[in-house]
Amino acid sequence: MARILVGVSGGIAAYKACELVRLFVKAGHEVVPVLTPAAEGFISYQTLNALARRSGGAGPYPHLEHADLFVIAPATANTLAKLAGGIADNLVTESALAHSGPLVLAPAMNARMWANPATQENMRVLRERGARTVGPEEGELGEGGSGVGRMSEPEAIFACCQELLAAFDSLAGTRILISAGGTREPLDSVRFLGNRSSGRMGVALAAEAARRGAEVTLVAANLSVPAPGGIELVEVASAAALADAVLGAEADVIVMSAAVADYTPAAPESGKRHKTDENWTLELEPTTDVLRELGRRRHKGQLLVGFAADEGDAGLERAREKLREKKVDLIVFNDISQPGIGFDADENAAVLISKAGEVVLSKAPKSKIAAGILDEIERLRR
Ligand SMILES: Cc1cc2nc3c(=O)[nH]c(=O)nc-3n(C[C@H](O)[C@H](O)[C@H](O)COP(=O)(O)O)c2cc1C
Repeated sequence: MARILVGVSGGIAAYKACELVRLFVKAGHEVVPVLTPAAEGFISYQTLNALARRSGGAGPYPHLEHADLFVIAPATANTLAKLAGGIADNLVTESALAHSGPLVLAPAMNARMWANPATQENMRVLRERGARTVGPEEGELGEGGSGVGRMSEPEAIFACCQELLAAFDSLAGTRILISAGGTREPLDSVRFLGNRSSGRMGVALAAEAARRGAEVTLVAANLSVPAPGGIELVEVASAAALADAVLGAEADVIVMSAAVADYTPAAPESGKRHKTDENWTLELEPTTDVLRELGRRRHKGQLLVGFAADEGDAGLERAREKLREKKVDLIVFNDISQPGIGFDADENAAVLISKAGEVVLSKAPKSKIAAGILDEIERLRR
């Protein structure tokens, strides 16, 4: 049984929160309803508390209530914007800011509000920070007409919450090291050779692993997104520094999601190289193959995960070969020839390759792909 905060904001779908509360209570969970002032125009505390079998309100400090999960259904455009901006001006937004566990959002609004770039950007930010989203669906809207914006049915929201609660603390006591981002190889004191990795995938993995109770160390190479809270952060710049940090660490699971340079300038210049009319010819030498080295040094019970960013069917075949060649347990293959996924994108798709077989994760926000990868890691450890 879990303790669940059910936040309701001021949308026409607020009445559906009743059914959601009923489903949680029926499943044996303790429910604490919290409403925005606008939501109170649509539904009352009295109704939700009665369904939650609570005699009183949410208590004197509802925003400080501990909860295993916080779900906001419906989540209005206004509340999503406040959450993205860290605003805490009512019980729902205060509670969300103070909550450190899983957050589930079920947006509901008219189709134009949903399609607005401001809303889409807010959703991107919230997903990136690890919020799980359910819907909205396409269909008939409360105001009339149809389009994308209809809140998902309470059963679908309930199922998503149950899935997150099942994963709760499933990695407690496990030390996971995750590398993320892209390394930079110095050419001189100001220039470098880099790659387009933003670190989003590794950050999503770190957030999800921490949510599952793991002790997470994130070896971060030049992230372009903020690192999640509640983890140990080790910042590195180059492939050599990343290799030192990873190979020197103790961990039960190592996930190499960083894009590590395969080659580095053989003789970087110490100062800034000044422009001349001559060509600048570089000699590049191979860097340490961290994954292969991890495979060579692995200790009993340690699980190793590598990433393979490659193109098409031939790339998938190379990823299968990588599993054997590097002696790791799992390879996450990203097809970087597909538009809108992989490097520097909010979404990803992957094929998880292990000795046990292959699992296809179709295109989804990186937080969801991270959950799929960690589910597979847990399965392999069992
Ligand atoms: C009848 C009515 C229905 C509304 N439905 C929605 C809705 O479904 N989604 C939404 O984002 N806003 C909706 N709004 C607008 C919100 O109530 C308004 O933006 C409010 O400030 C939201 O406050 P809150 O996010 O603090 O609950 C509706 C307003 C009215 C009057």
